[in-house]
Amino acid sequence: MKLRGKISASMMCASLIDLKRDIHELEKAGVDYLHIDIMDGVFVPNLMLSNTFIKAVRSVTDLPLDMHLMIVQPENKIHWFDIRKGDYVSIHYESTSNVLGTLQMIEEAGGNPGVALSPATPVESLSYLLENLKLVNIMAVNPGFAGRAMVPMTLKKIADTRKFLDSHGRENTVLEVDGNVTFEHARLMRDAGADMFVGGSSGLFLDEYPIGVAAKKLYDCIK
Ligand code: DX5
Ligand code: ZN
Repeated sequence: MKLRGKISASMMCASLIDLKRDIHELEKAGVDYLHIDIMDGVFVPNLMLSNTFIKAVRSVTDLPLDMHLMIVQPENKIHWFDIRKGDYVSIHYESTSNVLGTLQMIEEAGGNPGVALSPATPVESLSYLLENLKLVNIMAVNPGFAGRAMVPMTLKKIADTRKFLDSHGRENTVLEVDGNVTFEHARLMRDAGADMFVGGSSGLFLDEYPIGVAAKKLYDCIK
């Protein structure tokens, strides 16, 4: 039986001014993880979040983190991060020639290793990594910015990934979807087999609803 879908709240979409307030609202709403996008301006054309940000977040919550590293050569920087038991840490398949070694480093640091795939990267890239993976992040947008439109073929890619994982005996590998998770897309992504949903500017941090209301609506779409 499938467990209810999980929400990982995209902290780059939270209020920097009222970060503490937003984190407490996310806790009250019962979100499962805080998604921390780390960008280096090289792997993606944007700079975002940092160790300092993680430190600030840790000072006000015990929620586990879901770090999404969009940086080149993450193997040289894993030791920069405050990784704790229960956190997910994902690197991009496209970001290093040493994917496996970096996943091993994450595990040694106490984290749950994950791989993120940009929209054009084939699912089969995961073939020889499955034993070392706790999570696969299927990007539904080109990485780097909040507020981008879903690349339509990623819905099929989510279904292909679920099939691929299940056919390799990896039913317990978490399938996360990141980018343009609206309420409507969340239902379709859920039907395609996703388990964890990044709530960003499309489905959680919305002008029309407070965080608690948006989270409830999003959970209704992914149960
Ligand atoms: C995209 C980021 C996402 C993004 C999701 O590169 O990884 O976390 O913030 O939010 P929206 O809903 O704005 O796409
Ligand atoms: Zn992300």
